[in-house]
Amino acid sequence: MRVLVTGATGFTGAHLVRNLMDEHHEVIGLDNQEGIFFNELRDRGADLHVGSVTDEALVRRLTDGCQRVYHLAAAFRKVNLPKTAYWNVNVDGTRYVMQAAKDCRVERVLYCSTCGVHGNVETPPAGEDAPIEPADYYQYTKWEGERVVQEFVKDGLWASIVRPAAIYGPGDPERFLMLYRRAAKGRFLMLGDGQTHYHPLYVTNLIDAMRLATESEAARGNAYLIADEHSLPIKELVAKIGQALGVDVKFVHLPFWPVYAASVVCELIYKPLPFEPPIFPRRVDWFRQNRSFNISKARNDLGYVPAVDLPEGLASTAAWYRENGYV
Ligand SMILES: NC(=O)c1ccc[n+]([C@@H]2O[C@H](COP(=O)([O-])OP(=O)(O)OC[C@H]3O[C@@H](n4cnc5c(N)ncnc54)[C@H](OP(=O)(O)O)[C@@H]3O)[C@@H](O)[C@H]2O)c1
Repeated sequence: MRVLVTGATGFTGAHLVRNLMDEHHEVIGLDNQEGIFFNELRDRGADLHVGSVTDEALVRRLTDGCQRVYHLAAAFRKVNLPKTAYWNVNVDGTRYVMQAAKDCRVERVLYCSTCGVHGNVETPPAGEDAPIEPADYYQYTKWEGERVVQEFVKDGLWASIVRPAAIYGPGDPERFLMLYRRAAKGRFLMLGDGQTHYHPLYVTNLIDAMRLATESEAARGNAYLIADEHSLPIKELVAKIGQALGVDVKFVHLPFWPVYAASVVCELIYKPLPFEPPIFPRRVDWFRQNRSFNISKARNDLGYVPAVDLPEGLASTAAWYRENGYV
């Protein structure tokens, strides 16, 4: 098949492109930057284009002739990114991708949303019917993106939606890296008691789910929470990351709320500056927001089974960070 992947050179996109190329599909990739995987993916034969999903004409041109579209591109929590940028990419960009898919009669489309549309999970584990309560503007625009997709589904487009939990794995140069770096030091500053639940998702488990969600008839118009088998307390997660690195992590606990208050002040002070503040509310809130999901809908409808378990996933991620000099 001829397949368009948006966000193709990002962390998850690169894994998806590899997976599709391994199965000999013709892959067209769109991303607004080359990123660290560009040369590798191009050398494997992917047809990569640097450009934006907000460029309606470009999206239309790349979609023409495709049987599948995987829409992963997203404005994703960058320092000082204005709200308009989130809206333009995550909502308008999604509309352009869906419109192009409809006009070009694409057979099946997948939209990558986020578990964050549910915000803090008050009664874990959350299913897809848990309240929609995005906790920040990024999450809000991902939800608005889902609404755009559903509009097109009503109009006849075949599309499905995945809501991934916290993606980790080889090739993530940002999010879990922070946890690995801190664990590698052998001492971890924990805000609160560390019992908040977090739900990891190994990146190739997500790729399996994305592929299943475009191949299962039942997925049309449905949204699926995708996560690994179990969530776990963040203290346990950090200890396991330490084990994957061969480090016995010692924890130093600080009370959550005073640090949260300091982060609010810190963010205000840094607002006019082009730097990321050392602490800011969203990062501090990581220690408080429960994330725990029920994946039985994906299991029942799609036959999704997370193939890579946590110890294996954490170990291969540690190996990638070590090989590439990140830790
Ligand atoms: N990582 C997680 O834990 C997580 C959890 C739930 C859902 N998700 C969703 O999963 C998807 C993939 O995330 P990821 O972790 O792989 O993030 P990522 O590495 O940032 O991948 C997203 C890619 O999209 C690109 N992009 C941004 N704006 C674009 C635009 N206007 N046009 C074309 N490409 C654009 C990004 O480039 P720049 O880096 O230059 O912006 C990046 O290469 C996203 O839709 C995200 O919302 C991620």
